[in-house]
Amino acid sequence: MNRDDRMTTQRSTKPYVAATPWLDPKAVPFIQIKNLSKQFDKFTAVDKVNLDIYQGELFTILGGSGCGKSTLLRMLAGFEEPSAGQIIIDGVDMANIPAYDRPINMMFQSYAVFPHMTVEQNIGYGLKKDNLPKAEIATRVKEMLDLVQLGDLAARKPHHLSGGQRQRVALARALIKQPKVLLLDEPLAALDKKLREQTQFELINLQYELGITFVVVTHDQEEAMTLSDRLAVMNTGKFIQTGTPTQVYESPINRFVADFFGTINFFNATVISSDPAAKKLSAKLEKTGTKLDANSETAFAEGAEVTIAVRPEKIIISQKRPDGDHITITKGTVEDLAYYGNRSLYRIRSQSGRIIQVSAQNYQRSEALTLEWDDEVFLSWDSSCNVVLSE
Ligand SMILES: Nc1ncnc2c1ncn2[C@@H]1O[C@H](COP(=O)(O)OP(=O)(O)OP(=O)(O)O)[C@@H](O)[C@H]1O
Ligand SMILES: [Mg+2]
Repeated sequence: MNRDDRMTTQRSTKPYVAATPWLDPKAVPFIQIKNLSKQFDKFTAVDKVNLDIYQGELFTILGGSGCGKSTLLRMLAGFEEPSAGQIIIDGVDMANIPAYDRPINMMFQSYAVFPHMTVEQNIGYGLKKDNLPKAEIATRVKEMLDLVQLGDLAARKPHHLSGGQRQRVALARALIKQPKVLLLDEPLAALDKKLREQTQFELINLQYELGITFVVVTHDQEEAMTLSDRLAVMNTGKFIQTGTPTQVYESPINRFVADFFGTINFFNATVISSDPAAKKLSAKLEKTGTKLDANSETAFAEGAEVTIAVRPEKIIISQKRPDGDHITITKGTVEDLAYYGNRSLYRIRSQSGRIIQVSAQNYQRSEALTLEWDDEVFLSWDSSCNVVLSE
């Protein structure tokens, strides 16, 4: 969901924040990460990361286990010292600013709530430690309880809460100190799928209502897609691609991103001609010789080997050969099919012997629904769905 979608669903009276500050040359980033690296002995956990995050943004860092996500967050929070590079928050260089003086709070990967304290005491803990007056603590705890909808459970101890409720206690604890930035390391990982999906929306609403900048770490691409204004795909300490979920999904820059971020089919192809000015490329598939067109602003030499990537939901299955311009057509047989209520997944064996994955929404009784194993079918998709990758 992007910010524009969120606008329409919000009750908030929060001041308007440009929907896409990263496109505004005059917008000043709230967090600037410059050439940031972290070395543990000879091992590089974070490798020259550059990133600007804007106020009120929900930015997600997405990557597999061990790619450096938590290390990056810990450097932002001030729990880990960078080996090189710079972190600037709200115009201030964080180099000599200790964790407790940063306008940041962090919700850790395995969020800790104190088991011996009630929900209320857990949430108020940070303020009590700061020796705030009792009356102020009580008011702010009450506000937080309302915000995360735990008012009725204020007197409970954590082991009498569900996972989702515990997660909300941890969130309220992190938010009560009114940080300008909240770092959340795998905030929803402990929840089951259904609760996770529900909590994702609660998190988005909360973030928007409070106007706090969120930096979320996750290894779950669907979660990143749902939550983020923008996201970065990280691998072996590096940012591979940064953009909106749609940009990264529709225009992955290489095979790694395409493969990591959703399901995709890869075809090896050879370039026939390339005209970057007209954003055109024509190529033929390696095994079947199928000719195809694609949009590409990159120049390729004739004969260059490229990968053509196509998302499964872009492909249409039909039993008759489709006609029309600007479509890529190939043939195959049904190897496997599975119905998942609202959608069907097909594995089609192409003439070259490889498997092509196709998914279709079951919003109507379509011709494809009558397919059987071993049926011969045509697969077709619009040329604009061909993503050209050179690495
Ligand atoms: N204190 C440390 N000393 C040595 N190596 C470390 C230390 N902390 C992290 N590492 C290594 O740095 C790499 C990145 O770790 P990090 O915790 O940032 O990964 P992550 O992306 O958060 O992974 P996960 O998704 O599993 O939480 C890992 O290979 C890890 O073993
Ligand atoms: Mg981690």
